[in-house]
Amino acid sequence: MSDTSTTPTAASASAPAASEDLHSYPMRRGCPYDPPAEYTGMSEKAPLSRVRLYDGRIAWLVTQHKETRAMFADAKLFSSDHDNPAFPILAEREKNFPEFTQELFGLDGEPHRSRRRMLLPRFTNKQVERLRPMIQAVADELIDELLSHETPVDMVAVLGRPLPSRVICQMLGISYEEHELFEVHAQGIMQAPDLEQAVRAGQELLDYLVQVVDAKQHDLGDDLLSTLITEQLNTGALTSIEVSKLMVALLIGGQETTTSMIGLGTLTLLEHPDQLALIREDPSLLPGAVEELMRFLSIADLTTLRVATADVEVAGQTIKKGDGVILSTAAANRDARAFEAPDSFDIRRSSQGHLAFGHGPHRCLGENLARAELEILFGTLFERIPTLRLAVPMDEVSMKVDMTLEGLHDLPVTW
Ligand code: HEM
Repeated sequence: MSDTSTTPTAASASAPAASEDLHSYPMRRGCPYDPPAEYTGMSEKAPLSRVRLYDGRIAWLVTQHKETRAMFADAKLFSSDHDNPAFPILAEREKNFPEFTQELFGLDGEPHRSRRRMLLPRFTNKQVERLRPMIQAVADELIDELLSHETPVDMVAVLGRPLPSRVICQMLGISYEEHELFEVHAQGIMQAPDLEQAVRAGQELLDYLVQVVDAKQHDLGDDLLSTLITEQLNTGALTSIEVSKLMVALLIGGQETTTSMIGLGTLTLLEHPDQLALIREDPSLLPGAVEELMRFLSIADLTTLRVATADVEVAGQTIKKGDGVILSTAAANRDARAFEAPDSFDIRRSSQGHLAFGHGPHRCLGENLARAELEILFGTLFERIPTLRLAVPMDEVSMKVDMTLEGLHDLPVTW
């Protein structure tokens, strides 16, 4: 059996003793854009390490690119079933996730494929290309608004949050006024300090979306929600709660992630002026720069969790049925076996094969949309405000800690 094969095995390694001295997981980033320092040592030693979760359970942390990619691809052995009691979670508030993510992130096999098929046609490259003028108009308006503020101004609040929510509202065909509600609830679900508040944010959003679906039935158009209503709800394939939960999945998938990329991406570009100068000289480098930002920042590092469905040997270790598995996209994307000088931010490198959008059956549904939003936003921002700079020293930038996604609370800028 090759080192990275994920073939089930009858043999099973003994579970680590509870007293075994293990790293607690998650470890935290010291710098907003670099993965936790511990990853490097672990990845140098072996592709898989055991870590201890907040609730005392032990899980496998996968840190090398080859194994991570192979395990992403093997959804039969490494399940996304959030309802499985053995599914690993990283914080108390995530106990809330099954309820709201079960319609997509948390499903396996055919039920998952059928849900994806309902949404995919709207997220193809071709469809997203058609959205570019709308995204550009949103970016232009938000940058006008940024420029109308006294400086310093918080880029996360003025650009980072509204851009993805306004774009997804337009795609869904729901009124622009709703976008603030989306931002607040998406934040509430992903960042609530405790389970109770996370549950409340999720339930409020769901109740509200069920009403949106009802209202939309009388106002159908050429948008994603109208398609879901005519093709799924009206045919009896989905209930209005299920349609609403699919919308929650899109929000959870697309809101905070894009907000984080806008804040951290701007910071990274400002902190690497040589790289920013290259984009200014030659805007055709922008798509490569966005791809490198995705690799370099790997903001969804703490979200790609699985549970093993059988005993299986990977790289000489036996993962047992029911073991939790964490596929670290940040560690894989900084693996020197896959990327030369992985810790340097180089927009001209080929970042191809990075795993920031995951890989395999659950690979990010919104990746084309995310790329288009980031290319348009960064391109327009640095063209229109060439003197943009941080308004506080780098060490005062307020990083999110103990949250599900890596990112910034705010980013004060001036020009
Ligand atoms: C901007 C940066 C983004 C990052 C870093 C990101 C990252 C990811 C990752 C790593 C996954 C795989 C999860 C897994 O394997 O368990 C994923 C899935 C997903 N993403 Fe994204 N995402 C981004 C933007 C978006 C956007 C803009 C949308 C849509 C509006 C979106 C919607 C989704 C959905 C619906 C899934 C679930 C797919 C499935 O389970 O089949 N994402 N994303």
